[in-house]
Amino acid sequence: MISISSSPLSLKSFNFNTSPSLLYPFSQKQNQPSKNRNPKSHQIACTSNDTNQNNPKEGEQKPSASNIVGHRRNVLIGLGGLYGATTLTNNNSIAFGAPVPIPDLTSCVIPPKEFPTDLQSISCCPPLSSNIIDFKFPTFEKLRVRPAAQLVNDDYFAKYNKALELMRALPDDDPRSFYQQASVHCAYCVGGYTQQGYPDTELQVHNSWLFLPFHRWYLYFYERILGSLIDDPTFAIPYWNWDAPDGMQIPSIFTNPNSSLYDPKRNTTHQPPTIVDLNYDKKNPSNNPAEKQIIINLNLMHRQMISNSKTNRQFLGSPYRGGDEPFKGAGSIENLPHTPVHIWTGDPREKHGEDMGHFYAAGRDPVFYAHHANIDRMWYVWKQLGKKRKNFSDPDWLESSFLFYDENKNLVEVKVKDSVDEKKLGYRYQDVNIPWIKSIPKPSSKVKSKDKNKFLAQRPPRKFVDKFPIVLDSVVSIIVKRPKKSRSSKEKEDEEEILVIDGIEYDNNTEVKFDVIVNDEDEKVIGADNTEFAGTYVSVLHAHDHGNNKKKKNIVTCLRLGLTDLLENLKVDDDDSIVVTLIPRYGLVKISGIKIEFED
Ligand code: C2O
Repeated sequence: MISISSSPLSLKSFNFNTSPSLLYPFSQKQNQPSKNRNPKSHQIACTSNDTNQNNPKEGEQKPSASNIVGHRRNVLIGLGGLYGATTLTNNNSIAFGAPVPIPDLTSCVIPPKEFPTDLQSISCCPPLSSNIIDFKFPTFEKLRVRPAAQLVNDDYFAKYNKALELMRALPDDDPRSFYQQASVHCAYCVGGYTQQGYPDTELQVHNSWLFLPFHRWYLYFYERILGSLIDDPTFAIPYWNWDAPDGMQIPSIFTNPNSSLYDPKRNTTHQPPTIVDLNYDKKNPSNNPAEKQIIINLNLMHRQMISNSKTNRQFLGSPYRGGDEPFKGAGSIENLPHTPVHIWTGDPREKHGEDMGHFYAAGRDPVFYAHHANIDRMWYVWKQLGKKRKNFSDPDWLESSFLFYDENKNLVEVKVKDSVDEKKLGYRYQDVNIPWIKSIPKPSSKVKSKDKNKFLAQRPPRKFVDKFPIVLDSVVSIIVKRPKKSRSSKEKEDEEEILVIDGIEYDNNTEVKFDVIVNDEDEKVIGADNTEFAGTYVSVLHAHDHGNNKKKKNIVTCLRLGLTDLLENLKVDDDDSIVVTLIPRYGLVKISGIKIEFED
């Protein structure tokens, strides 16, 4: 059988006549209860039962305690038989359990063979060490308080400047050096590693439930190294408070060309006082006056943090287990605003948008760590937004692990489960106002008749499609049936209605962005400040290639968008179907299907 996630179709070779299984439109399948499905057909990026995908591939074995050399797995041995056994996931689906293991440092390949030729000279594999120690929680007298970057004083700036100067002065082969710190991102994020025990499987920390924990750990060590270089155990990195109006510019501490916090490879037209566009479209940048851009940004934050983050999977990202191909699906804030902020900051004069605009180089810009501190802060804020905002309890998430060098140059193995409470890691965030809580996006039009879908269906020149897959080379609309409608508030509280755009496939050396609009009357006037704007899929250049696997692979991923708030605010919760409009912004993607799912 041909599965979408494993078919290495090149975009040029999209041929609807040769792959019969690709023709199966989700829209005809959506009411079928998942238990009746053939489990072998689950090899699609992001259905709720997406967990049977990690059967060992031919020639690959599930790792066991005995075939992972030098890697202690006491916990897993203690759980007995987790590998190869079935386990209940948070989505109540049956999964083959396996956490994502540490990278195999000895197989680090940077640059990957698929990297553009001008990048073939970069190298970002870390120094090797055979001595891996287990993480221990730090002891401390006082929590480090990470400040909002726009609020720090001169003393703070001088301190951070000094610490980073010292970090930059360390020799390149010192794992604490800025060179090596930047390389951490490069190695983990452009396919430098394979997973220990799965020699053909790339390790990738973006586009899945590993995104937030990985970057939390990354900042944790970066901050501790800086603190130790200036001998200040309370030193805390600043956060770029782009979710509040007074933080929506590049923080001025990063813009002095004479300081160690500066990076020349940034977009010169995006310097203060320019307001960041959290939904930046690099091919067609918006030109909004500052006040309007601020409102759009606040509406976008409300949607991403509240409407699109009602479940742990919606917020943290989709399950990605040991042996899985990466790109299972990003959580809400990884797509927006995380990725546009990278691209907005990077320098368009550079071939690959360096530094922030390409994952291999992003860590070279000190503002990267402030950007990610705010992403990390969003995790901390999200947990306070309501009872249902809880982390995963799935052992495959909790036991997934990474390797980092600490402030004493020790190679430390850390686990996701030890990252979930930032206070135990010794830090918190300076409290500031959270202005987006009440910034609810507004419908673009007041008239939302119940016959709207009929109206839309007849209205030329809209192009409607009902067959999948589609290559998204123009604006298209799809009528998507709703398996349930008019639910009670209790039902809505229990289960979120989710629009799933599945099997999003594109060449891994291209950048793509497309917007998703629901029940629009004219897609041209819909912006991120309108209710109808459901979300965006946007990629950062990252090029990957793994180990021995010579075959060129496309990225295959999915986008999951919350519908409950959106449909309520449009007052169409009693409708049988919705009209989904996909608007390509740049890059070419193929989409294998669209459907609605419910998730608790
Ligand atoms: Cu690892 Cu902002 O990306």
